[in-house]
Amino acid sequence: MSSFHGEQVRPYVNNAISITIHNNLRVEQTMCDTLVNLTSASTADERTWHTETYTGNFSSSEVDAINLFNPDLIARVANQLRGDGLIFRPLNSRDYDKGFLQLLGQLTEVGQVTKDQFLNRFHGMRTSGGYYVIVVEDLKIGKVIGSATLVVEQKFIHGCSQRGHLEDVVVNSNYRGKKLGQLVVMAVKQLARSLHCYKLSLECKDRLIPFYENLGFKREPGNANSMNMRFPQDSPAEQSRL
Ligand SMILES: CC(C)(COP(=O)(O)OP(=O)(O)OC[C@H]1O[C@@H](n2cnc3c(N)ncnc32)[C@H](O)[C@@H]1OP(=O)(O)O)[C@@H](O)C(=O)NCCC(=O)NCCS
Repeated sequence: MSSFHGEQVRPYVNNAISITIHNNLRVEQTMCDTLVNLTSASTADERTWHTETYTGNFSSSEVDAINLFNPDLIARVANQLRGDGLIFRPLNSRDYDKGFLQLLGQLTEVGQVTKDQFLNRFHGMRTSGGYYVIVVEDLKIGKVIGSATLVVEQKFIHGCSQRGHLEDVVVNSNYRGKKLGQLVVMAVKQLARSLHCYKLSLECKDRLIPFYENLGFKREPGNANSMNMRFPQDSPAEQSRL
């Protein structure tokens, strides 16, 4: 267990996918100036990812940033953006300070979320597994400017298969029209395939159907409806109709 933000950080327990990690294995992947180390924990089931800084470019707050999931899972897509000053990476525990929630505010109502609330939700997602929030960071300004989420649902059907859900796709309005939306959805698509999802589903506004059709999603005849039941409460999500 390591300590983070005054709390004990629960080690990463990978419930959703099967990754073979040998004891003492150390995978190093350079992401700009940050070296992400996958270090073995005390038991085969208990793992944690640490981000350590190796140059003076990042503030001390970067130390101990914790990734939501293993960055190796999106390494192939991540490589496509290097050189543009942009990186694809998993959401990490420091992204509250990098404008992640302000970005989501361009998608829907986020509400007044404190840092503690963000961290509680972050660690809850990380512990339960199955949540893959991918972000695009503009390294020049140190801000998160794009994001999409894969949620992996465990099923009994189809031979105990799993279904992927594409959620919360958003690109900062100053960065739209540069194919970042396309790239971040492609990243989710590749991730869902590599995690052996039998399908990837989404709900979207009518005006975005062409955007997703361009990326290979189809409205299946007789199976293209989405229905919701709203629960009246003082919930911003209810008010925003997302
Ligand atoms: C939708 C969104 C993610 C697209 O991001 P983007 O980076 O501007 O999109 P891209 O540059 O990758 O566009 C890829 C293609 O989709 C098209 N496209 C982009 N936005 C579109 C839209 N709203 N409607 C139809 N087509 C769209 C582009 O014209 C482009 O087409 P081309 O390949 O023929 O040139 C972005 O507009 C956004 O964040 N919107 C607000 C949040 C939102 O509505 N998210 C979707 C929730 S389901």
